[in-house]
Amino acid sequence: MHLLIPAAGSGKRMGAAVNKLLLPLLGQPILAWTLQAADRASSIEWIGILSQPGDWPAIKQILAAMDLSTPVQLLQGGATRQESVCKGVEYLYGWGTVERVLIHDGARCLATPELFDRCSAALQQVDGLIAGIPVKDTIKVTETGPNGIQIQSTPERSRLWAAQTPQGFRLSLLWQAHQEALAQGWQVTDDAALFEKLGWPVYIVEGEETNLKLTTPLDVLLAAQILQQRFNPAR
Ligand code: CTP
Ligand code: MG
Repeated sequence: MHLLIPAAGSGKRMGAAVNKLLLPLLGQPILAWTLQAADRASSIEWIGILSQPGDWPAIKQILAAMDLSTPVQLLQGGATRQESVCKGVEYLYGWGTVERVLIHDGARCLATPELFDRCSAALQQVDGLIAGIPVKDTIKVTETGPNGIQIQSTPERSRLWAAQTPQGFRLSLLWQAHQEALAQGWQVTDDAALFEKLGWPVYIVEGEETNLKLTTPLDVLLAAQILQQRFNPAR
């Protein structure tokens, strides 16, 4: 399975001076944890990192320190996550030999190798899938009016899932979906949403409760706790 890792953001909500993926987390940069998990997934045979050229020296340094067994290529990302993924999809589609692809956010550095392998296996049976977990909170749909934020409705929780990555697709369809998005000016926050707009089926694979997207400094604290437990439970 070929894997694209969007890593070309700046991490504004993290509030650091550099791309959040370069920040340290328990002894190595956040991106290194993501790469380590993907490398340990037996189904992943190639990794492309969508990233900004300004970050390439730092990312090359991370790769040099890691000695991964999976081939890794740095690819130029775009101005939005969607544009970054689109560039990666276009690149792989150009090879003419790749059938399926997984997309996994660099910022989800707690995903396990087992999750990558579960998604890869499931993608042999369908053309679109995402990792997801059941929503635990009761979610309210609101509208903001003159008197404040007013609740409109409460969707039935049993039907709600929180979307994660990896997300996996048949490459030719994902390429088509991104072309359509460019033509129509669609802006979405994940790739599944493009399939949904086109009426193409996307299935849920059981994700992981620990598969957080590191967005704010609190997430980094939580991630450190989880990794500490996972790799050094005795301490
Ligand atoms: N991403 C990307 N290209 C962009 C923007 C984001 O490849 N132009 C990547 C990020 O590097 C991250 C993933 O998409 O791995 C999910 O995005 P997010 O968590 O929002 O990261 P940032 O956009 O960097 O953070 P922020 O929105 O707080 O600026
Ligand atoms: Mg962002």
